[in-house]
Amino acid sequence: MNTFHTISEIRNWIKTNKLNGKTIGFVPTMGFLHEGHLSLIDAAKRENDLVILSIFVNPLQFGEGEDFEDYPRNYEKDSKLAEEHGVDAIFHPSINEMYPKKMSATITVHEGTDVLCGVNRPGHFDGVATVVMKLFSITTPDKAYFGMKDAQQVAVIERMVSDFHLDLEIVRCPTLRENDGLAKSSRNVYLSEVEREEAPKIYKVLMETKDVILGDMRPSVQQVKQFLTEKLTKELSAKVDYGEVLSFPTLEHPQQLSGELLIAVAVKYSKARLIDNIIINVN
Ligand code: PAJ
Repeated sequence: MNTFHTISEIRNWIKTNKLNGKTIGFVPTMGFLHEGHLSLIDAAKRENDLVILSIFVNPLQFGEGEDFEDYPRNYEKDSKLAEEHGVDAIFHPSINEMYPKKMSATITVHEGTDVLCGVNRPGHFDGVATVVMKLFSITTPDKAYFGMKDAQQVAVIERMVSDFHLDLEIVRCPTLRENDGLAKSSRNVYLSEVEREEAPKIYKVLMETKDVILGDMRPSVQQVKQFLTEKLTKELSAKVDYGEVLSFPTLEHPQQLSGELLIAVAVKYSKARLIDNIIINVN
């Protein structure tokens, strides 16, 4: 496995491999890898000749008072896991390599950021889109792999690829969960024992909401949202950031419960903010 810390090194490696006709699958991450990330790597491995994994905790997507400094990091372990899963090259740049000077142009995301995590994390998706655009430009992948755990991120990136006519395919990968239903996340390590025991209820409430939507009661969008937020508030000691039902991938408020629907939740525990969602198809 190759490890590259500079843009010029990885570009040289990519150039040689492309001349030899190799296809490239790219998995962008912020490291502290868990099985969710590894499932993206496995999917990329199946569908491409070569897999590039980036590990970069991107300061641009963290707001003031968010956990940039405390974001968990373990490069040694990540590198071992990446090798075990057949990653061909890790790109692990420094902040200075990615942002050598103040940028004069960045991406501002206009659509789909007035909802969900866009509301309490202003600028977050601008930071994500900007770094992902940089990473795409550096790694020039044929396919890039994103987890549906971050469904809003998937929608924003797909839209950016379309807006800028980028010549690559975004592959949506399903959310990997612990046995008790909790979505795997690098931030789960910051849950207390009691919080960790309670957190699987997030997924349980999502499934109950799905049952309400698909059941015989034919509820309105408003009734479903109310059910979701009331259930979350009642079942969890965490602060409920949002419980939302939106059309996917447009992230618009639906007039009625039909088509692809994203049921999404964010809750705040003492040290960790958790997000989760499911997508259902209503005919
Ligand atoms: P990070 O949070 O490290 O996630 C990297 C990728 O792993 C994302 O596409 C995310 O959706 C996916 N992922 C996380 N948990 C998952 C799970 N339980 N099941 C399946 N996939 C999961 O998302 C980011 O980093 C950053 O915003 C990034 C895109 C790298 C830009 O900085």
